[in-house]
Amino acid sequence: MRWPLVVAMVVGLLAGSVIALIVVSGTPGREASGPQPLTTGKALIGGPFRLVDHKGRSVTEKDFAGRKMLVFFGFTSCPDVCPSGLQVISAALDKLGPKAETITPVLITVDPGRDTPAVLAEYVKSFHPRLVGLTGSEEQVQAAAKAYRVYAKKVPDDKSPGGYTIEHSAYLYLMDESGGFLTHFPSTVGVDRLAQELAKAL
Ligand code: NI
Repeated sequence: MRWPLVVAMVVGLLAGSVIALIVVSGTPGREASGPQPLTTGKALIGGPFRLVDHKGRSVTEKDFAGRKMLVFFGFTSCPDVCPSGLQVISAALDKLGPKAETITPVLITVDPGRDTPAVLAEYVKSFHPRLVGLTGSEEQVQAAAKAYRVYAKKVPDDKSPGGYTIEHSAYLYLMDESGGFLTHFPSTVGVDRLAQELAKAL
């Protein structure tokens, strides 16, 4: 992905959060149940999905119930941002050791055309033994990206296989045991910081 895009996505995400807070705080009757956490806008990120894992099995969010998910959208032919983001995830999980086993790292491809289950299987094993790669039909992937409010767009690129690359936003989304949004990090978060933040959520 490209850096001006990162800035645009940060601005977009912040704007979205503000709107979410306005919408939530404007809901009548909310105050009656006591103070609401500021993270109430969380329902806007994530949700049900139906995809195919790197072993070729059809999966939904229910297959991950009971575990936290650390979700990253990317694609296997991404030259830089995706591999470095996945390296950070892997290193942070390794740093936390066995207690991080309640967190499942998940790569959802934004490139289902090239990222078949077999391609993902080969890719995920170079990062973390528990990393799950998810792909699916174009529609399934689009629906998942939309649920996570991920920006992804095919753009022509002579240097890439198939003649295209994909611009995409690059955040790590930490989801709770029932698939609800907890927090997110930029893919540039860094190993130590990510490990620290994940430790808080364990
Ligand atoms: Ni990428």
